[in-house]
Amino acid sequence: MIVCKSPEEVAKMRAANALVAGVLGELREVVKPGITAQELDAVAEMRVREAGATPAFKGYHGYPATLCVSINDAVVHGIPSPRKLVEGDIVSLDMGVVLDGYYGDSAVTVGVGTISDAAAELLDVTRDALHLAIDCARVGRRVSDLGYAVQTHVESRGFSVVREFVGHGIGTQLHEEPQIPNYGTPGRGPYLKEGMVLAIEPMVNAGRAAVRVLDDGWTAVTVDGSLSAHFEHSVAVSKDGPVILSRLD
Ligand code: MF3
Ligand code: CO
Repeated sequence: MIVCKSPEEVAKMRAANALVAGVLGELREVVKPGITAQELDAVAEMRVREAGATPAFKGYHGYPATLCVSINDAVVHGIPSPRKLVEGDIVSLDMGVVLDGYYGDSAVTVGVGTISDAAAELLDVTRDALHLAIDCARVGRRVSDLGYAVQTHVESRGFSVVREFVGHGIGTQLHEEPQIPNYGTPGRGPYLKEGMVLAIEPMVNAGRAAVRVLDDGWTAVTVDGSLSAHFEHSVAVSKDGPVILSRLD
């Protein structure tokens, strides 16, 4: 069952997502050669707790941290490590929180210092794919329209869409129905209704789509070693169109 949220609930989700956006915005500025993912995670956890919220990922199926920090060929769910970031790395920062009973969830991929043109293109294409999907989050559209929008854009640029991980509904749970694949045929799946809140999160590989999970049980990496990017927003479906709750302005 897909839960539609009342305006009061959407307001609470706006607050949770504003916190996520603010922290990711701060971290984006802090990312520099020499900093470690563990240091970024410590900043994130401190900010979340200062705001009276709880990290959503920490303890989720045993996940050990506040942030997922996925570097270069890591796709998602990178566990923050003590290795220093180096110039030219790309780093995706994914964070969820619970505030007043409601979840926020968003992710960005950022470059460390100067990155290659190929890496910059991967980031641009993935961000654009997210926004094309967000534009489909309208009353009367269907869930598979979002994945179709992502896939067609990404593949037209010669990149590939990760199949193993999907976006999701979000609300009083981190992962609610529906699942939102980033590929597929348009015009399938549930119709979107006012009050649905969707965490839309394309993961895009520069090379082939296949991923595998490292022995840590979490970190998903590309099988071919190619770079991967991930952008995510939590988006409310409203009468007036999509509302990005995790927007950083
Ligand atoms: N944004 C991802 C998701 O919605 C991150 C989850 S990380 C986990 O699935 F640790 F909570 F699993
Ligand atoms: Co998510």
